[in-house]
Amino acid sequence: MAVLVTGGTGFIGSHTVAELLSAGREAIVIDNLSNSKECVLDRIERITGKRPAFRKVDLLDPEGLERVFAEFPQIDSVIHFAGLKAVGESVSKPLLYYENNIFGTVNLCKAMEKAGVKRIVFSSSATVYGKPDSVPIREDFPLRATNPYGETKLVIERILSDIAAADPEWSVSVLRYFNPIGAHESGLIGEDPKGIPNNLLPYIMKVAGGKLPCLSVFGSDYHTHDGTGVRDYIHVVDLAKAHLCALDRAAAVKGTEVFNLGTGKGYSVLDIVAAYEKATGLKIPYRITDRRPGDIDECYADPAKARELLGWSAQYGIDRMCEDSARWQRMNPDGYGD
Ligand code: NAD
Ligand code: UFG
Repeated sequence: MAVLVTGGTGFIGSHTVAELLSAGREAIVIDNLSNSKECVLDRIERITGKRPAFRKVDLLDPEGLERVFAEFPQIDSVIHFAGLKAVGESVSKPLLYYENNIFGTVNLCKAMEKAGVKRIVFSSSATVYGKPDSVPIREDFPLRATNPYGETKLVIERILSDIAAADPEWSVSVLRYFNPIGAHESGLIGEDPKGIPNNLLPYIMKVAGGKLPCLSVFGSDYHTHDGTGVRDYIHVVDLAKAHLCALDRAAAVKGTEVFNLGTGKGYSVLDIVAAYEKATGLKIPYRITDRRPGDIDECYADPAKARELLGWSAQYGIDRMCEDSARWQRMNPDGYGD
């Protein structure tokens, strides 16, 4: 039996494929390489001693998807990472996001249905909670997207739960990630954003590597312990491991289940800067600037449901997250290169 991993050469996908292979599971990867590189597969092979089958397929190509299921009849479940994820870009290019993320998922589910594969683990996001009324955030909190990217996650969650409601043979596991950072301890795989990063840790890494002069800290007047925004940072390897737990759970339980994946602890921007400085011995120059539109004060998970039903909880703290990010950055100053 094998797992089809869409978006498997991306940041979270590559770490999950490495965990799957290390656990002795077969993984088949598809990706259109719009935000990742094929050489990631070489790195996964160096880590695990195994190379996953890879097909360059776009989710917007229904025949290409059908061909993959026909070629690999051993596929019995899907982990669905593939999608576009930049919040700002989704505001300026909403149609691109609605088409890629939503149509892509519909095509995937149709191909699954045709192949008789009815088990899916989906990458959702804490962004579906919008600005929460309180923290920590539980799965039953109200859902409200505040940008087209978040809207695609909400619509896909709904599509998948409707499919499971219509056909009791389906198992849908919706995983709402908080803020994934860190990298594999080998330093061989990590996050490699194109251009100037939008997210905090990738930006700090560019400053540490001398590629950008200074971090802008977006606002110091939030209602938090030091005035800067608080988030629930989670090590990408912890996150990857949760997908194996979700697959096991989906094999045993039909219908839709939703899980928050976070540590349950919130850290501010300045806490993360301090942790990165501690991990590297480097000074990260920063200046306080205006708030970034749409940002919220605090966002962190109540991860109790994942602990109870998946038997999963995060093992790594922010020091380890920063050490592993820094190792990836040192060993790959230009990411995966050209
Ligand atoms: P990523 O961009 O590194 O990986 C996504 C992969 O999907 C890329 O390799 C890209 O080439 C591929 N892809 C995009 N559209 C495709 C298409 N139409 N057909 C085939 N492949 C396609 O992103 P990531 O950080 O690994 O995120 C994985 C998933 O987790 C995404 O769905 C993202 O929305 C979600 N998520 C990420 C975060 C985060 O902060 N990284 C937080 C919450 C949720
Ligand atoms: N920040 C800065 N300077 C930067 C970048 C970020 O101060 O250059 C701050 C932000 O204001 C925020 C914190 O660092 O307080 C984290 O920002 P990120 O952009 O790293 O992450 P977000 O919490 O804004 O959003 C991320 C993903 C979303 C996802 C969300 C919840 O980008 O896609 O986590 O999972 F929806």
